[in-house]
Amino acid sequence: MIEAIASERFIPNNTEIVRDGNGIQIITGPNMGGKSTYLRQVALIVLLNQAGSFVPAASARLGIFDRIFTRVGASDQLARGESTFMVEMHETANILHNATDRSLVVLDEVGRGTATFDGLSLAWAIIEYLHDHPTRSGITLFATHYHEVTDLAKTKSRVANFNVAVKEWNDQIIFLRKVVPGAADKSYGIQVAKLAGIPSSVIDRAREILATLERKERDLVEETRGHAPSHQLSLFDSRERDVIDALRILQPEAMTPIQALNELQRLKEKLEK
Ligand SMILES: Nc1ncnc2c1ncn2[C@@H]1O[C@H](COP(=O)(O)OP(=O)(O)O)[C@@H](O)[C@H]1O
Ligand SMILES: [Mg+2]
Repeated sequence: MIEAIASERFIPNNTEIVRDGNGIQIITGPNMGGKSTYLRQVALIVLLNQAGSFVPAASARLGIFDRIFTRVGASDQLARGESTFMVEMHETANILHNATDRSLVVLDEVGRGTATFDGLSLAWAIIEYLHDHPTRSGITLFATHYHEVTDLAKTKSRVANFNVAVKEWNDQIIFLRKVVPGAADKSYGIQVAKLAGIPSSVIDRAREILATLERKERDLVEETRGHAPSHQLSLFDSRERDVIDALRILQPEAMTPIQALNELQRLKEKLEK
């Protein structure tokens, strides 16, 4: 299908999944890397096999599944009054309630429809549930761009990490479309955006913000280890920063109520100037 649609040569990938060995596979890698395609490839081969068909593979050895559960793509049902995220959660809920240890579960970017930390937390908890639940632990493929969830492989024996390989070259990224063992180390969002034609000034600004956020995260880590942070997040303009600095040194306990009120008024005016 990809060769017909994208006129790209299809790059085949091997799959070896043994339920009790590496039955939950987390596939990480950048957008456009080939995660969804890999998931669909596995699900389609299982489906074709069970329908008694030939399968598109040099060789295949497959077990019998009782059902294929999928949560892929985002065909919005806004007309029915459900947001994309609600649809995503409904479908995932159905899977978590009904999958068995003989099911194939294919989850593509579950959690993407909400804020990063929410989404990541949901993805994490869903994988844990599928792993730990005695009767829901079938074979699971979970594609995600939250590479943090790959840490689960350290503590969950049946979780294995795979990633779609990319090559970085002169700040560009080249997709290799090969699924290889191990976790992806970065998400390459900015490189993919650049590839898609986002204006270079936006790309440069995004890089700047990313660097600031990463520094902020490092500082937080250092701070909790007892070091002073060396940089400040400069997402605020200088006026807002002045107000924040003023708040920081303010000593409410040393002020009379009327002083506090005046100071509050002064800071508010400063912001509105
Ligand atoms: N194995 C493959 N061989 C060739 N092209 C591929 C392969 N996998 C993906 N692609 C191409 O890359 C595009 C993005 O793949 P997709 O699976 O949607 O990536 P992801 O889910 O990681 O964002 C596809 O539309 C297809 O054109
Ligand atoms: Mg995808």
